[in-house]
Amino acid sequence: MTAGEEIRALAVRIARASRITVVTGAGVSAASGIPTFRGAQGLWRRFRPEQLATPEAFEKDPKLVWEWYAWRRELVARARPNRAHEVLAAWSRRVPRFTLVTQNVDGLHERAGTRNVVRFHGSLWEIACARRCPRSPRRWPDETVPLREVPPRCPHCGGPARPGVVWFGEPIDPDVLAAAQSALDCDLFLTVGTSAVVYPAAGLLAGAARGGAFTAEINLEETEASPAVDVAIAGRAEDVLDEIERLVGPVGGRR
Ligand code: OAD
Repeated sequence: MTAGEEIRALAVRIARASRITVVTGAGVSAASGIPTFRGAQGLWRRFRPEQLATPEAFEKDPKLVWEWYAWRRELVARARPNRAHEVLAAWSRRVPRFTLVTQNVDGLHERAGTRNVVRFHGSLWEIACARRCPRSPRRWPDETVPLREVPPRCPHCGGPARPGVVWFGEPIDPDVLAAAQSALDCDLFLTVGTSAVVYPAAGLLAGAARGGAFTAEINLEETEASPAVDVAIAGRAEDVLDEIERLVGPVGGRR
């Protein structure tokens, strides 16, 4: 099949599916100007994950870690959701059972108005007491940009607060994991803009396939997931999703 035929075939499946689960990664936010992690321009080319995105890194140098997160918050605060976010948000309002599991911590899916977002790796816009002091909630919203103090303090114990994200070596919140796993029972599972190398997120695809879902990928390049999906479409998420929406959306006459 040509790329155009594959897109049309996927559009037909999307139009017919009543239970859709989408997993997204950094590629979905690339068109909003947010750098991805891997690849030539990726953040992990310029920064080392173990110095910035681990509990050990935070313990060693909370200021350095926070400066990196504060920079990312500033970048995202200036960004806008792109067409990929918009199309997924439209599906979340139209498809009877729709779940969006995102590895992104930028909040752009929520800003686009997406319903039923599972934030697999947490949020840049939440913080938590690093000492988990008994009076503090597990996490709380904080959208201050720029931060008044680096690192910000826990208002309850005065100790350092940490970003409300999942770092390497940390488990996924059990409630979040359960929400993602229950969404694997779907007709169509779509993975978009993720290199599919970070587990357990990358393992969701196999779970959906085992449950009988039709599986598809939209990504700029071939990934670890490409050989495993029923259809892999090479292209930019914002272009391919726009094309699909033109075929299946209200203007396309379906749903
Ligand atoms: P990656 O940077 O690993 O992968 C992004 C993918 O998006 C790559 O395969 C790119 O080819 C693709 N891509 C880039 N621009 C695109 C576009 N416009 N349209 C479609 N695809 C595009 O990011 P993630 O897979 O999200 O975790 O990374 C997973 C996790 O690793 C992140 O959540 C983060 C990171 O380390 C933690 O920090 C715990």
